[in-house]
Amino acid sequence: MKILFIVSEIEGIVKTGGLADFARALPWALKKMHHDVRVVMPKYRAVQYPGLEGSWPLSFLLNHATRYGCLVFHARHDGIPLRLIEHHDFFSRDGLYDNGYTAYPDNALRFAFLCKAALEQCLQEGWAPDIVHCNDWQTALAAYYLKEHYPHDPVLKHTRSVLTVHNGAFQGKTEAKWLDGLGISWDRFAGGQVEHNGLVNLLKSGILSADKINAVSPGYAKELLAKASSHELWYCYTARHHDFTGILNGCDYTMWNPEKDPYLPHRFSADNLKGKHLCKKNLQQRMGLPQRKEVPIFGMISRLTDQKGFDYLIPAMEQVLNQGSAVQFVLLGSGNPVYASRLHHLQNRHREKMSFVNGYDVALSHLIEAGSDFFMMPSLFEPCGLNQLYSLAYGTLPVIRSTGGLKDTVVALSHDFSNADQATGIDFNAPDTYHCSEAIHRAMALFNNHKAVYDRLQQTAMGQLFTWDMCAAEYEALYHEAFE
Ligand code: ADP
Ligand code: GLC
Repeated sequence: MKILFIVSEIEGIVKTGGLADFARALPWALKKMHHDVRVVMPKYRAVQYPGLEGSWPLSFLLNHATRYGCLVFHARHDGIPLRLIEHHDFFSRDGLYDNGYTAYPDNALRFAFLCKAALEQCLQEGWAPDIVHCNDWQTALAAYYLKEHYPHDPVLKHTRSVLTVHNGAFQGKTEAKWLDGLGISWDRFAGGQVEHNGLVNLLKSGILSADKINAVSPGYAKELLAKASSHELWYCYTARHHDFTGILNGCDYTMWNPEKDPYLPHRFSADNLKGKHLCKKNLQQRMGLPQRKEVPIFGMISRLTDQKGFDYLIPAMEQVLNQGSAVQFVLLGSGNPVYASRLHHLQNRHREKMSFVNGYDVALSHLIEAGSDFFMMPSLFEPCGLNQLYSLAYGTLPVIRSTGGLKDTVVALSHDFSNADQATGIDFNAPDTYHCSEAIHRAMALFNNHKAVYDRLQQTAMGQLFTWDMCAAEYEALYHEAFE
């Protein structure tokens, strides 16, 4: 099949989160299955891609009146044809989606432009994709445009669309004054196809226009169908429930393999964990914590945002630390400065037990996965989550809130240990400080008092396999279903 994959970030080029990991791994896995995949993304200022093969000018009408021009750079990323859309005003900015504090006010227009450019460059090249694969609100409009602007186009009239929802909380909402500029008709707005609570809602336009829709885990798909956990769009997902499914993400074991990881000072495997113990020592040293192997380390790597559960995690850590427990917390994250300052504050009061790095650091993220004993993912909601998959591979037991993709990928140890043969982590349910700190205590007790059970979980965790090949096979099936 010919697949046009439109996305706003790609690992190895520019990344803010797991969407980028997905955008690198899935096209590659599809290519291995002999699909002809092309990937389109913006050429942000941060994109300094070395392998550019040339650029071609492209001009098109974004709406009925305004013609825009841009340059389409051709490149290859991991052997996959890549099209980078350069438009100085829209994409040559420091941030991808925001200026560090607030979202860019013209985001809807910027990403509408990306969607239209992605489709138009197909026309220019005469390349007729079977599938346009859209990802999140940024590229949801491509599904809308296909249906509304190109139903009779000779190149695109047979093309079907798939929308993957990686994070349903972000919806690309903007005021109705942008409608004309976006090329969305007032009829469609008034008819509710793109309108939610009086605003233009780009994610909704994709949910209602795409031929197939999926969430990045079956658990999250179920949550999106329920009113309370759907970020308000349950009525759209339920309207499309025959075309809506959940497909679990994979783990890229070429990048996340403790036996080969070039970022690690020591390598290890399930059969020989000596290197993991040395990584723990190295991590403690790097983070300025006492090098004590008997003290459990809880690691975390995260965007600093309420999605990740910081509102109850920070007080839970504070409680555990104030109780004088023998524990170490190691956190790496960037994002909301309020969370960053609360974490710095906690660190300042517990220098021997808590270390926080405010930033984005790939090498350190690998060391945290390798050197920690537990990995914290207490998310308020988690569409899939990739870090818990990485931590399973590194024998670092996830401590999760039982939600979305976390619930689908981690088998929680029961209180009586009766499932110790299958379990791979610790969970809690209610998103509050009490239950979060209780889970941390249970993890500490497992590590301190039931080492044999901990070891068994660790072995099971390291034997888990979530490959992108499995995931790609499910997307392939979904693409076929889009034609049924
Ligand atoms: P989300 O996409 O919601 O942020 P995921 O768990 O799916 O969550 O993916 C997060 C990805 O971003 C992982 O690859 C993780 O290692 C990476 N990441 C997040 N924050 C940082 C950071 N501060 N430094 C390095 N990598 C990070
Ligand atoms: C989003 C979600 C995360 C998911 C990632 C990749 O960023 O928050 O849970 O793993 O997309 O699909």
